[in-house]
Amino acid sequence: MMDLAVVDVPVLDVAVVGAGAVGRALGGGLVRLDGVTVTYAVRDPDDERHADLGSVATHPGACADADLVVLAIPAAAVPDVVPTLGLEGRQHVIDATNAVRMPVPGGHASMGALVASLLPSDVSMAKAFNTIGAEHIDGGRIGDDRLFLPIAGDDGTVEIVLPLAEALGFDAVPLGGREAFALVEDHARLWIQLAFVCGWGRDFGFAVRGR
Ligand SMILES: NC(=O)c1ccc[n+]([C@@H]2O[C@H](COP(=O)([O-])OP(=O)(O)OC[C@H]3O[C@@H](n4cnc5c(N)ncnc54)[C@H](OP(=O)(O)O)[C@@H]3O)[C@@H](O)[C@H]2O)c1
Repeated sequence: MMDLAVVDVPVLDVAVVGAGAVGRALGGGLVRLDGVTVTYAVRDPDDERHADLGSVATHPGACADADLVVLAIPAAAVPDVVPTLGLEGRQHVIDATNAVRMPVPGGHASMGALVASLLPSDVSMAKAFNTIGAEHIDGGRIGDDRLFLPIAGDDGTVEIVLPLAEALGFDAVPLGGREAFALVEDHARLWIQLAFVCGWGRDFGFAVRGR
């Protein structure tokens, strides 16, 4: 576990695709970090729902100069939206989506695998921030507990996401490469099962003990 005091956050321009619960929470947390700027990529930048967000642009407009692009849109929208973002090999992608009560579009093994299939092959990506309710994404903690945040994906992107997640407050743990996308999404399914089927509600997260 990193000491928050020594987390070195990279200088980054971030585009958050989707200004819903997850996009707003993650964008709101990231923009508070030194060196990080956030632009929200939305369908209609003139929509008054976005008036309180600092920087807002179209999907390709927001992504054009971004170092890091976060996908925070419904699973069903991913196949149509990702190819329109104009992403290139110098950029990194975080996939925060889950297929909830629906199959992964296109029959892929995970949303991460679907996203990977839609990106140019030289774009590096990771799966993160999909395993906790949106209301705890900007802080990464409940009380004094740092919340366990599993991350999987390409080394270059994991190296960027890890300090960002730690700086937000999470106990961020790399699980492996793209082969671990489905495992990260299974962890989200566990959270969803406990929250909505077992009746725990949304106000909980997982923390590691004894590591
Ligand atoms: N809610 C949670 O607690 C939570 C936690 C972890 C992961 N997730 C996952 O994160 C993703 C986003 O969840 P959310 O709760 O933030 O969703 P949301 O609030 O329902 O929607 C996110 C945003 O996606 C954009 N959007 C919706 N339909 C679209 C379409 N057809 N094409 C393009 N953009 C569209 C909208 O932004 P604009 O209208 O502004 O463009 C919307 O505000 C989902 O995959 C979800 O499973 C959710």
